[in-house]
Amino acid sequence: MPKITVVDFMRNVEKEFEVEKGTKLLKALIDHGVDIIHECGGKAKCTTCRVSIDEGTPKKETQRQKEFFKKLVDRGNSIFSAQQVFLSCQVLVEEDMMVCPSERFNRVIHDSMGKDTGDEITPEPVWVDRF
Ligand code: FES
Repeated sequence: MPKITVVDFMRNVEKEFEVEKGTKLLKALIDHGVDIIHECGGKAKCTTCRVSIDEGTPKKETQRQKEFFKKLVDRGNSIFSAQQVFLSCQVLVEEDMMVCPSERFNRVIHDSMGKDTGDEITPEPVWVDRF
């Protein structure tokens, strides 16, 4: 089973666990108690579930994420052009990964962690090359 290593922004290891191959990354993080916001509940509409995948970076992404990131980059938000940045609700775990969540729960900025998320990627994924 693939191993997920969760690190903080300084790349200190916070948590390690294994998940079934093909598990949705956001679901895996939530189920293992990782502090990550997921405001829209995994619908690829908010970006709060974004992560940096520094090892095991997927070579494919969903069409939904690709189009969403393009809009954000066109508006000047260049972080979404980084090769390792993904929406965790749009990623399936296929191999070992090192993952750094970007938005953590903060009662001042976020009044809740977000809506629940299901096992499947929403919307139905169409896979395209990352770049
Ligand atoms: S984009 Fe909102 S939870 Fe993933």
